[in-house]
Amino acid sequence: MRVVSGIKPTGNLHLGNYLGAVKQWVAMQDDIQQQGGETLYFIADLHGLTEWIDPAELGANTIEMAATVIAAGIDPERSILFNQTRVPQHSELAWLLNNVARVGWLNRMTQFKDKAGKNREGASVGLYDYPVLMAADVLLYNATHVPVGDDQKQHLELARDIAAKFNLDYKVDLFTQPEPMVSAAAPRIMSLRDAATKMSKSNPSEQARVNLVDDDETIAGKFRKAKSDADALPDTVAGLADRPEAKNLVTIYAALADSTPDRVIADYAGQGFGTFKPALADLAVATLGPIRDRMLRLLDDRAEVSRLLDRGAEKARDLAAPTLLAAQRAMGLQI
Ligand code: TYM
Repeated sequence: MRVVSGIKPTGNLHLGNYLGAVKQWVAMQDDIQQQGGETLYFIADLHGLTEWIDPAELGANTIEMAATVIAAGIDPERSILFNQTRVPQHSELAWLLNNVARVGWLNRMTQFKDKAGKNREGASVGLYDYPVLMAADVLLYNATHVPVGDDQKQHLELARDIAAKFNLDYKVDLFTQPEPMVSAAAPRIMSLRDAATKMSKSNPSEQARVNLVDDDETIAGKFRKAKSDADALPDTVAGLADRPEAKNLVTIYAALADSTPDRVIADYAGQGFGTFKPALADLAVATLGPIRDRMLRLLDDRAEVSRLLDRGAEKARDLAAPTLLAAQRAMGLQI
C-alpha cells in the first residue's frame, strides 16, 4: 500500500485543509506504516503556479506549509515529505500523460470551470492542465490510496481513467488505479460566513476561514462570530438537514474532537449557539493552538525545514525514476 497526497502553498493551511486532508494524512502515516506501506506527502508548488502568486512569497509559503504539515503530525523520518519542484519526474510524467488525457475529459472538470469563471479564454493553460499534473503526482508512485477532500475526487477519477488508458494503449500493466480516500468526518468544511461555499484560501474574507497560523484570540473570535441561526440544537442529526450553518459547526466540532455528529448532538441537544459556539471556540483553540506553536518554533530555522524537504525529495526521486523510465520506454522514447 502506498499513500500519496499534496497541498498547494498558495496561502496558509486552513481548518478545511486540516480536517479534510492533513488529519487523515497523519492517521494514515500510522495505519499504513503498521501494515508495511509507505506514505508520501508533498507541497504542490507547481500546482501553486496555476494561481497568481508573488514569486517572493512562493518560496516562503512552501517552507511555511511544510512546517505546518510537520507541526500537525507528519514526521519527515517516517513519511517522505518534499516539494514537487525538487522531483522533476512529476513534470516529465505530466507531459507524457498529456498525450493520453483527452480534451473532452478535462472539459468536464468542475474545479476548472469554477476557477476560470466566465473568462475561460483568459485562463492559463496550467490551470486547465492541473488535473493531469495531479494524475502524474500519484501515478508516478503507484499510489494505492490518496487522502483528499471531497472537491478533489473528480480529479482522482480522471487519474484513474488516464492510468487505464495508458495501460491499454501501450499494452503494459504499469500504472495502479489510485483510490481517493475522502474523510468521512470532514469531506467538505464550509465557510464560517456562508455555509453555501466551502472554506477556502481564496475567500477574500478572513472571517470565513480559520487559519492554522491564527492566534488563540483570533480563532476564538472567528467561531464566536461564525454565522449560525437562532434555534437551539436539535435532538437528532436529522434535525440539522435544513440548517447548513448549524450542520457545519457541528461537523467541525465532531471532527476536531474525534467524535461524531451524533455524539455532539447528544451532548448539546436543546442548547443554543450562545453555549455551543464558545465551547467550539475553546475546543478549536485547544486543538489548533499547539500545532501553531510547534509550527512557529520550526520556522525559527527555515533552512532546516528546507533541508528536510530536500532529503524527502531525494527519496521520492529514487521511487519516481523507475516509473518514469518505464513509461518513457513503453511510449518508445529513446532514453
Ligand atoms: P489544496 O491545497 O487546494 O487542498 C489541500 C487539501 O485540502 C482539501 N480541502 C478541503 N477539505 C475539506 N473541506 C474544505 N473546505 C477543503 N478545502 C480544501 C483538498 O481537497 C485537498 O485534499 N489538488 C490538491 C493538491 C494536489 C494533490 C495532488 C492532492 C496536487 N497534487 C495529488 C492529492 C494528490 C488540492 O486541492 O490542494
